[in-house]
Order: sequence, then structure tokens, then C-alpha cells
Amino acid sequence: MTTGVWLIGARGSVAVTSMVGATALRAGLAEPLGCVTELPELASEAVPGLGDLVFGGHDISDITLEKKVEDLVAAGVLPARPAAAVADKLAALERELRPVPSAATQLETARLIAEDIDDFRRRRGLVRVVVVNVSSTEPAVVPHPAHGVLADLEDALSSPGAILPPSSLYAYAALVAGCSYVDFTPSTGTRLPALRELASSAGLPYAGHDGKTGETLVKSVLAPMFAMRNLRVRTWAGTNLLGGGDGANLADPAANAAKAGSKQRVLAETLGYQPQGSSHIEYVDDIGDFKTAWDLITFSGFLGTRMRMEFSWHGCDSALAAPLVLDLARLTAAAHAAGRSGPLTELAFFFKDPIGEVPHDLPGQWAALVAFVRGLDGAA
Ligand SMILES: NC(=O)c1ccc[n+]([C@@H]2O[C@H](COP(=O)([O-])OP(=O)(O)OC[C@H]3O[C@@H](n4cnc5c(N)ncnc54)[C@H](O)[C@@H]3O)[C@@H](O)[C@H]2O)c1
Repeated sequence: MTTGVWLIGARGSVAVTSMVGATALRAGLAEPLGCVTELPELASEAVPGLGDLVFGGHDISDITLEKKVEDLVAAGVLPARPAAAVADKLAALERELRPVPSAATQLETARLIAEDIDDFRRRRGLVRVVVVNVSSTEPAVVPHPAHGVLADLEDALSSPGAILPPSSLYAYAALVAGCSYVDFTPSTGTRLPALRELASSAGLPYAGHDGKTGETLVKSVLAPMFAMRNLRVRTWAGTNLLGGGDGANLADPAANAAKAGSKQRVLAETLGYQPQGSSHIEYVDDIGDFKTAWDLITFSGFLGTRMRMEFSWHGCDSALAAPLVLDLARLTAAAHAAGRSGPLTELAFFFKDPIGEVPHDLPGQWAALVAFVRGLDGAA
């Protein structure tokens, strides 16, 4: 059941950690910690194994994988021993990465992107490829009338100009190439009616948005506790300090706003009201991929007594994200094989801002995920 994983942003930290990590796990060099699909509750014949994944992808950067791995080892993201042990596999991975094509119109660019993916599928003899967006977060999309209907979109794309943001152009190309699509970023991706129409007419599944790996994961567990104990949260303010490529990109106010919005939604939805405070993201070059999040929560209990809680989270962002990228690729490929199409709302467990009206309740999301995998077993 060899399955292709085509990474958009394939030379970035999350992508390279995912590829090197999967290669190291296949060689038995580490335990699959952080890989949710390796838990006994999700064991399934229908889900491709970690060893069944082969990788390719697009990136606008031309940094070599060798240099990127060296940087990730120096930064403490990738442990030196497994990275050294898979060094001889990097040349083969490198051969599957492509520069981002560019043409006079976005329709032509999408055709070239789809051709690269199709070429990968044919050369590697793959039945199925999952396209996963792990490229830099974009600013929020500028609405365009052609986003509403597929025929209008295809018309508009055939004229010069940028009708779609890159994440949505990749999603369009992936669907045209017959691939499922996962957005691990807060970017627009498939969140346009015309692309939902395309996915539904092509019978393809898609999932997103924005991997839930750090502060938001902790929030999604703590917020229900306050709600269920009828404690009124007055303030929930957080500061996230991070470096690396993601941090540098999020220093741009427009990309930052897209990310911060996706981080706060969990509170209003879980508590039923929006407490004071917001979630700030600040770029601190020196800490690289190791993120620190500080959250202050003030709340009132019996007779209005005022209390507070603080937590700090020190996470290695790419090490938290990479196993989820592998999980999502495996689960989405299995859903595609089982004939699922449209939004995979059962994968909400993995996302900060899940597609569909899925409540931000982690145990409920987990139960839906387990039922989803059992359903895939039934379909196999
Ligand atoms: N690490 C986490 O915990 C986490 C959690 C949720 C979401 N994410 C998201 O995952 C994404 C990747 O994070 P990262 O730390 O790997 O960032 P990164 O900066 O290291 O990598 C991003 C890569 O995308 C490439 N890229 C930019 N524009 C592109 C385009 N138009 N086409 C193809 N490639 C393009 C860049 O060249 C770079 O190699 C970010 O959007 C981030 O917000 C990460």
C-alpha cells in the first residue's frame, strides 16, 4: 500500500522533520512517539504503515536537504544519531523535490503543479498521493467573485493575475491531479466554495486547518474544565515566542493575524463567550524552533472569588508537528481508499481551526477519530 505524500513547503522545518523522521522510524532507529496512529486504539489494516510512505514536494527555496538537516540538528530539532543514520537517503529524497512552476496564468501554473505530482505518482507506481500543505502561512484571502463557482474560477484562472492565494492554487492542482489535500497551515487552501465543488465532483477528501500542536492544544483541554466547573474565565491572554522560518514569516502582521485568529477561536467556542485578552505571536530569532507560550488565565468562582492560573509551554514546534503530518497523510490516504470524499471532519482532533462545525472538545474529537478509523476498517 505504498502511498505518496507530496509536501508543499518541502524544504521547510516541518516537512524535513517529517521526511527524516519517517525514514528513521522505518529503519527502527526510534520509537514512533508523537504518532497518534501508532496508538493501539487506532491500529488498522486500512491505514498505510509508516514504512509505506514515500515523499516528494514543491518549495520556492533551494536550500539542500543536507543543509536543512544540518541546520535542524544544530538547532536541536533533529537528534544527531538518527539524522546521521539516514544521511545516505537524502539524495533519493532530494530527487523527488521540485521548484515551484510559474506560467503566464494561474490555470497554466496549476496544470504544471499537477503534472509534477502526476509524474511522481507514475514514476513511483503509486495508487494514491496525498498533498499536504506545510508551507509558510499566508495572509487572509482577498475575496474574489470567481471563488464561488468552479466554472467561474476556471474562467478567471485562465486570464493573467492572482485570483487564488498559493495554498488554494495548490489545492486546486492537487484535486485536478486526483489527489486528496490536507492543510496543516491556517492558509485558505480548500476553504472556497469553488474548490469544495471541485472536491465533491472529483470524489476526493480533504482536511484542515492549522495543526494543533502547542498552546491551542493545551487551551482545548483546559477551557472545557473551566466550563464544566461553571467557573467564569475573565481573561485568557497568551504570548507565544518563536523563531525559525515560521516565526520569521509570522513577524509579518497579515500572516500573524491569520494565525492569531485561528488560536483564539477555541475559547469562544468552548466557553460560549470570549474572555478578555488575545494571543500574541512574537518573533525571537534566538530560540529557533523551540516555542515558549505563556498564558495567564483569571477566573471567578463561588460568590465571585477571583483566582488565577498561569502556564508555560516549551515545545519543539517541528517535532510536535511532524508526527501529525504523517498521521494526517496516512489517515487521509485511507479515507480516499475507502471512497470518502469532501471534508474529513473526523480529523478535527489534529486541527486548531477544523473544517466544519466541529466542537473544540478534545475527548469528543478523539472519540470521533477512533470511530472514523473503525469505520475505515469496516469499509476495507
Ligand atoms: N510547527 C508547528 O507546530 C505548526 C503547527 C501548526 C501549523 N504550522 C504551520 O506549518 C507551516 C510550516 O512551518 P515550518 O516551521 O516548517 O515553516 P518553515 O518556514 O520552516 O517552512 C516553510 C517552507 O515553505 C516554503 N514556501 C513558502 N512559500 C511557498 C510557496 N508558495 N510554495 C512552496 N513552498 C513555499 C518556504 O520556502 C519554506 O521552505 C507554517 O505555515 C506553520 O504556521 C506549524
